[in-house]
Amino acid sequence: MAGLKMLLDPTRVGREAEKLEVDLHKRIIGQESAVRQITGIYQTFVAGMSSPGRPIGSLLFLGPTGSGKTRTVEAVAESLVGDPRAVIKIDCAEFQHSHEIAKLIGSPPGYLGHRETHPLLSQDVLDQHHTATVKVSFVLFDEIEKASDSLWNLLLGILDKATLTLGDNRRVDFSRALIFMTSNLGAAEMGSILRPGLGFTSHDAEHQPVDEKTADRVSRAGVDAARRKFTPEFLNRIDRTVVFNSLGTPELRQIVDLELQSVRDRISRATGTKAFEFTIDDGAKDFLLKEGTDPRYGARHLKRAVERSLVQPMSNLIATGQVQSGDQLMVEFDSGCSRLVFLKEFKDSVPQTGTPSEKSVAA
Ligand SMILES: Nc1ncnc2c1ncn2[C@@H]1O[C@H](COP(=O)(O)OP(=O)(O)OP(=O)(O)O)[C@@H](O)[C@H]1O
Ligand SMILES: [Mg+2]
Repeated sequence: MAGLKMLLDPTRVGREAEKLEVDLHKRIIGQESAVRQITGIYQTFVAGMSSPGRPIGSLLFLGPTGSGKTRTVEAVAESLVGDPRAVIKIDCAEFQHSHEIAKLIGSPPGYLGHRETHPLLSQDVLDQHHTATVKVSFVLFDEIEKASDSLWNLLLGILDKATLTLGDNRRVDFSRALIFMTSNLGAAEMGSILRPGLGFTSHDAEHQPVDEKTADRVSRAGVDAARRKFTPEFLNRIDRTVVFNSLGTPELRQIVDLELQSVRDRISRATGTKAFEFTIDDGAKDFLLKEGTDPRYGARHLKRAVERSLVQPMSNLIATGQVQSGDQLMVEFDSGCSRLVFLKEFKDSVPQTGTPSEKSVAA
C-alpha cells in the first residue's frame, strides 16, 4: 500500500538564514538580488551542504559606485558576528609588486623582514572574529580588475581549493570564509544606459527610478564587461555574480533615514542617560539628500553630508550645553539661507537668555 505523500516546501529558509535576510533588508536598500544570493549561500552552509574543499561561497559584485557593494559585505559581518569591521579588506590596487604581496602572505624565511611581517591573510587573522556560534570569516577583494598576476594566482588558489600557502609554507584554510569581490567594470557602459547622452548630470537631477528593461540592460552590460576582462577560468570559479542596481530617489531617501538612525544611536551612546531626541522635517531630509547623493556617485557622499550638516553642529550644541537631557530638538531646513536650523521647544517656561524662537544655524 502506498504511503501518504506530503508536499514539502523547499523555498522555506531556516532560522539562521532568515535572521541574516531580515538584518540585511534592514541595512541594505534596493539590492534584493544581492540579499537573496547571500542568504542562499549561507543557508547551504548552515545545512552543511557547501562544496567540500571550497570557500563557503564566492560572490562577484558589479555595479555603480555608491550603490552598497562594500556596505553589503559589512552588513553580512555585522549580522553574523556582530561587527562590520570583521571584514578583511584587500584593496587589489595596492598589491601590484611582490613586496606588496608579502604583506598578504609574508616573506619566505631568510628574506629581509621575514620576522617582522605579519601576513594579513594568516589563519589567526582569518579566525579572529569567530564567535562561539558563528565560525565564518569575511574576505573582500576590492577592485579585482586591478589585481596583479601574482594576486590573481593567489585568489584562484583560494577560490579553487580554499587554501593559501604563506611565505613560510604554512597553510591557511579558507573553507570557512565568504569571499567577496567587487569591481567597477562596466560602470561607464552602465552609466551611459542610465543617463543616455549625458556626460554629467545636474546635481539637482532627480534620481530616476529604473524600469525593469533598463535594469536588465545595465545588468547585462556589467556581466559582459566582466566576461571581456576576466578569464573563463576565473569566472567559472565564482559562485554568484550580482550586478548592483543604481539607486533611485526613493531608495536614497531610505538610506538618509538609515543614516539618521545611526546618528540617533550615536547620540544615545555619547550622552548616555542624558540623551535627547531630535526630529527632522522633510525639507531638512531633502537638503541632506541633495548634499550627499548624486546620480553618478550614488550614496557615496551621504555620510559626509550628514557629518558636516548635522553631526558637527549637534556636537557643538551638546558641548555648549544648549541641548540637554530630555530635550526635544527640531531640525528644519531654512530655505532663506539654504541651511539646516536647530530649534528647541521650551515646554514650561521661557529661558533667561535667548528667545525660544532663536535659531541656531548650521555652518
Ligand atoms: N543599497 C544601500 N543600502 C544602504 N546604504 C547604502 C546603499 N548604497 C550605499 N549606501 C551608503 O553609501 C555608502 C557608500 O556605499 P558603498 O561603499 O557600499 O558603495 P560601493 O558600491 O562599494 O561603491 P564603490 O564601487 O565606489 O566602492 C555606504 O557606506 C552606505 O552608507
Ligand atoms: Mg566599495
